[in-house]
Parts: sequence; structure tokens; C-alpha cells
Amino acid sequence: MRTDRTLVFGVETSCDETSCAIVADGREVVADTVAGQVDLHARFGGVVPEIASRAHIEAINPAIERVLSESGVAPEDLAAVAVTHEPGLIGSLLVGLMAAKTLAWAWGKPLIGANHVCAHAYAAAIDDEPIDYPATALIVSGGHTALYRCESPTELELLGSTIDDAAGEAFDKVASMLNLGFPGGPAVDKAAREGDPRAIDFPRSLLKGQSLDFSFSGLKTAVLYHVNGVPGAVRDVPPAGPGAGRCAENMSPQELGDVAASFQQAVVDVLRIKLRRAAEQTGARTLILGGGVAANTALREALTELASKLGATLRMPKMRYCLDNAAMIAGLGYHHLRAGRTDDLSLEARATVRG
Ligand code: KG4
Ligand code: ZN
Repeated sequence: MRTDRTLVFGVETSCDETSCAIVADGREVVADTVAGQVDLHARFGGVVPEIASRAHIEAINPAIERVLSESGVAPEDLAAVAVTHEPGLIGSLLVGLMAAKTLAWAWGKPLIGANHVCAHAYAAAIDDEPIDYPATALIVSGGHTALYRCESPTELELLGSTIDDAAGEAFDKVASMLNLGFPGGPAVDKAAREGDPRAIDFPRSLLKGQSLDFSFSGLKTAVLYHVNGVPGAVRDVPPAGPGAGRCAENMSPQELGDVAASFQQAVVDVLRIKLRRAAEQTGARTLILGGGVAANTALREALTELASKLGATLRMPKMRYCLDNAAMIAGLGYHHLRAGRTDDLSLEARATVRG
């Protein structure tokens, strides 16, 4: 093991993935492991916080041991321990934070608290080239949908965010309406490949003026009414598009595909339009995409096209680093360390972040 590299140990437990990683110099993944909990939550159709935190408790020690043994790195060669401490499910965050504090204390290394959303905005640099700053970042996940101006990996200014649901949450709800299973995003993505994105004209909520905020609750309701029918609607009102008001069980695979594709197109259109607005406001030549929804095929294609129209460089994480992972936490931790920003053992977990 070369010793001239700065090795950071990362821990991520903010939602339903227990992940540990060792990253060198902020970008090179030496070892990483992600233990998901999909099987535990699937029958509830969403993440159950109590089940998630209990599963993290069981998975965290094996994850730590695995990363250490796979990497061959000795704790004394590490420069710091970075951990997601905000935002996320509080019970889940606490498990990772306690583990990271224990490691930092036992190994005598600095502790670094990382913001989960900022880490998603850095994920495109993991196992890839450095990002050219300044940049405009679009972060779309199960819990967040927001735009940022980024001066560096650690300096982000919020430009706009969702006023109701996150984009990933809308994907999960629509998948559940269509009986496509959990987690919903990949299932809608797959079903949409068989459908026509122009089949149903679902609403695109752009909000007033040049707003950089998002709203997906109207779209979600429109899909619900399309699938189950409008409550109390008079029957002679023509249904909106093929398959409308038929309930998912009665819809053909083609009709399901059309709803999935049309819903996905509505989300992608809004995200593309808002990212374009934000990029025009910041003037930054780099666009960053991050978060679980960054794995979406249609979104990746649409933003690739947008970047080429704008003459900008689009940075997207590799598939593995779109979803929650500790490599992005260790990577971001490296930049905090370089900037001289470390925390002590009083670091707190925060479910939400103000301001
Ligand atoms: O970033 P992430 O792992 O967790 C949060 O920080 O929230 O994102 C998870 C979200 C889920 O809502 C999931 O349905 C969505 O990302 N997702 C996708 C795809 N893969 C995951 N959404 C759309 N298309 C996908 N291929
Ligand atoms: Zn996330």
C-alpha cells in the first residue's frame, strides 16, 4: 500500500443502505461495500424508519470489517473518518454516526461530518476525473430534489428545491399505483421502455416566473386519477388518454408502459427545463447530476442532449455511485479535510438542514 495518498474512511447510513468505503485522494475507490435493505421494506411499499435503523445496527460492523479486509488498509494509514450526519432518517443517521465516532476515537483520527446532498453533488467525481468548478448541480433522489450553484465540492449555494414531493418519491408512488413493486424508480424506468412518452399529457408544474423550485404532487395526483379514475367524476367526462380510470390490475402491459413513460417524460421535462434555467442564471459551464434518480435512463439522455445544446460539460455519477454510497462521503470528506474542516465527538445527527 502506497503511503503518499490521503485515505479517508467513509460511512453512510442515512436511509436504507449501510455503506462503508475507503477512498484515496478524494476520487479513487480502494474498497467499498453497500448492503441494501430492499427485501425488508418491499412488503410495506416504502422505507420503514424503525426497520431501517435496526438493520443498520446489524449491518454496520460487517461492513466496516469487510472494507478494511478487502482494502488491506491498516487503520493507522487512514487520514480521517467521514460520515453522513445530515439530512436523513434520524434513527438511521445515528447508527452510522455512532460507528464513525467510535472508529475516529479508537483510531485517533479526525472525524468529518458530511452533508448527504452535497455528497450526491460530488458523486460524479468518484472513480472518475475531477469536476471543473463552478458548476450547477441538480440533485434528484428519494428525499431531495434541488438545484445548487457549486463553487467547489464543499461550497454549495441552494438555488431552488421541491416545495412538496421529491422526484424519486413520485417515482416510488407511481410505481406503487401501477403495482410495479419497490423500489419504484428502476421499475418505472424499465416499464417506460415499453411505453409511449407522448401517450398521456400529464401536467408539468414549472411554478411562477423563473422559479427554480419544483412541485411534483400535482403530477402524482394526475397519475392517480388517470389510473384509478377521478373520485365522483361523471362518467360522460372523457377519460384522459388510453387506459384512463381502469385501475392498474385491468390495464394491459402496453397501457401500463404508456402511463410509466408519460409520467417519466413529465418529470424529465421539468428537471431539464429547471436545470437549463439554473445554468443560465449561474453561467457555469459544468452541469452536475446526482442522487438516485440520476440512474434514470431517460433523464441521463435528456441532460446529455441539454449539455450539448448549451455547450456545457455534464458530469453524471457512474451507476453504482448514483444511489446512496459511502464512497461519495469519503470523497467529500477528503475535501473538507483539505479545507481544514473537521468535527469533534459532539457532532450531531440532523434529520433536516435549515437554510
Ligand atoms: O439517492 P437515493 O439512493 O436515496 C436518497 O437519498 O433518497 O435515491 C433513491 C431514489 C428512490 O426514490 C428510487 O426510486 C430512485 O432513487 N431511483 C430511480 C432510479 N433508480 C433509483 N428513479 C428513477 N429511475 C431510476 N432508474
Ligand atoms: Zn441519497
